[in-house]
Amino acid sequence: MSNVLITGGSGFIGSHLTRELVKMGNNVTVFDNLFRSDNNSLKDLIESKKIKFIKGDVRDEQAVDSAVKGMDYVFHLAAVCINYSVKFPKESLEINLMGSENVFRAALKRKVKRIIFSSSASVYGDPKVLPMKEDSELKPVTPYCLAKLASEHLLKFYGRSGLNYNILRYFNVYGVGQKADAYYTSVISLFIKRILSSQAPVIDGEGKQSMDFVNVKDIVQANVLAMNSETESEIYNVGTGISTTIADLADILIKSLKVDVKPEFNKRDVIVSERRADISKIQKIGFKVTVSASDGLSEVAKDIAENLEKY
Ligand SMILES: NC(=O)c1ccc[n+]([C@@H]2O[C@H](COP(=O)([O-])OP(=O)(O)OC[C@H]3O[C@@H](n4cnc5c(N)ncnc54)[C@H](O)[C@@H]3O)[C@@H](O)[C@H]2O)c1
Repeated sequence: MSNVLITGGSGFIGSHLTRELVKMGNNVTVFDNLFRSDNNSLKDLIESKKIKFIKGDVRDEQAVDSAVKGMDYVFHLAAVCINYSVKFPKESLEINLMGSENVFRAALKRKVKRIIFSSSASVYGDPKVLPMKEDSELKPVTPYCLAKLASEHLLKFYGRSGLNYNILRYFNVYGVGQKADAYYTSVISLFIKRILSSQAPVIDGEGKQSMDFVNVKDIVQANVLAMNSETESEIYNVGTGISTTIADLADILIKSLKVDVKPEFNKRDVIVSERRADISKIQKIGFKVTVSASDGLSEVAKDIAENLEKY
């Protein structure tokens, strides 16, 4: 049994990770300022004292240090999202970069066994070549992406003083419980809500824009592998290696909700961005895609249909 700290553990990915680490028998502490969560998803675990919850801000150096003290592993997920970083660049850098610095420095000082950092495929920017590999060109375009990339470099910096870490670059994460305004994947809940009210999902251009939709269950799997792997100081893409176009997405959701609508194409020129991860590196430490986009997206569609008020 290990002592594990999850910053941002109340959020979408963090709460799924918290449940898995508890199930595995770890002693889990969640550190989150509840900026984007009401902790409802962890209510049962907190009330039954299966986890410890600390309401704290990663910008608060002392709060971070005392939370990290005594931990074997730290998963650093706390961050504000891309849209927020575009609106509030300075504040987002204080959280996503300086907050990371607080967590990494505390982890070094408190001699944690390993830190696992949630980075993002957005560090690649708009790729010229697919699939995107860990050593592909990096072109971060927003304060969010800059902070993720700078945090990766900070880990390398502290790594030279002995900090043990692994970095995960997530592609387009989706799953049950995700907020409807998630930057890349908001299109999923938007389409689902339209289909449920028998309205056609509206696709800009020909719907050839694509994403690499990776289910949150596989993101959790990647975190556990990155924690236990013999490899260290590594960067891993976490995706499925498969592109799903927006047109495919609409078809998958219409089929799974069994509603008689057809997508509408809004004919105009759009920039066709494409995303596809090369996942061969993380596969070498045991990663397997366990949820296909069509199964995972159908699961989300059904959950939204049954619990519309939650979304
Ligand atoms: N969801 C995705 O598609 C995706 C893709 C790439 C990377 N990521 C990264 O994965 C991590 C988790 O993402 P998510 O989708 O679960 O987001 P989320 O917004 O649901 O979770 C982030 C959590 O961090 C907390 N937080 C924000 N500011 C904080 C602060 N100053 N101090 C303490 N806690 C704070 C929020 O309250 C929230 O609970 C983030 O680092 C994100 O950048 C997510």
